[in-house]
Amino acid sequence: MRVELEFTAKDANRAVERKDLVIVIDALRSGTSIVHALGNHAKKIIPTLSLKDAYDIHRKHPEYLLAGERRGQKPKGFNLGNSPLEFTEEKVKGKTLVITTTSGTAALINSQKAKWVFVGSFLNAETVARTAEETASKEEGNISFVLAGEKGRFSLEDSLCAGAIMNELTIDGIVMSDSARMALLAYRMAKTDLIDNVLQGQHAKHLMNLGFKQDVIFSCRINIFKIAPVYKYGRITVQG
Ligand code: MLT
Repeated sequence: MRVELEFTAKDANRAVERKDLVIVIDALRSGTSIVHALGNHAKKIIPTLSLKDAYDIHRKHPEYLLAGERRGQKPKGFNLGNSPLEFTEEKVKGKTLVITTTSGTAALINSQKAKWVFVGSFLNAETVARTAEETASKEEGNISFVLAGEKGRFSLEDSLCAGAIMNELTIDGIVMSDSARMALLAYRMAKTDLIDNVLQGQHAKHLMNLGFKQDVIFSCRINIFKIAPVYKYGRITVQG
């Protein structure tokens, strides 16, 4: 099995063209928010590229919760921002959420033509690794990580998170691209001081300036949810 890594949301098409199983990563913060919401029993999550698409869906379904950010902040009229800590069981259990964020939801939507798209984060690293390798093995396919990145550029925390998931892969005979191997090696270097290392990243610093340090700390928690969210037919759910 081959494991590849694409650095930004706009590179997702390469993974789709290769017909790989895709794991989308936006560790800070939308991927973590999505995993936390589904871990707290949200029914489904619909990602959108634009605010307009989110408002349009909400107009038709006012019972859905609008979530996300622009410039890190909750947009006007939204129920929830993009702080993973906001997605508590009390707020999201049984609900459908519509989420739009700067780069994370673009990475998802750009990957949606892949047969399998999973949402990965530090929170569910082991389960998403296990589910992805089992699914890809069954189909004799390969795995691509698509990182959201930060406004079209490489981001430290997304590659460390991809490395954390690769670190949980157990099958023999994996062949890694250089970018994938770099992420794995970087995670192994960083993991003992994961929070401190993630806090050194540009996006983490930006989030800290906005007062979101606790989001960064929470996003670094490893394997607290045993779920592998799947993005299919325009929505993200937990199967089973
Ligand atoms: C994004 O999608 O660009 C991020 O989730 C932004 C954020 O941290 O709110």
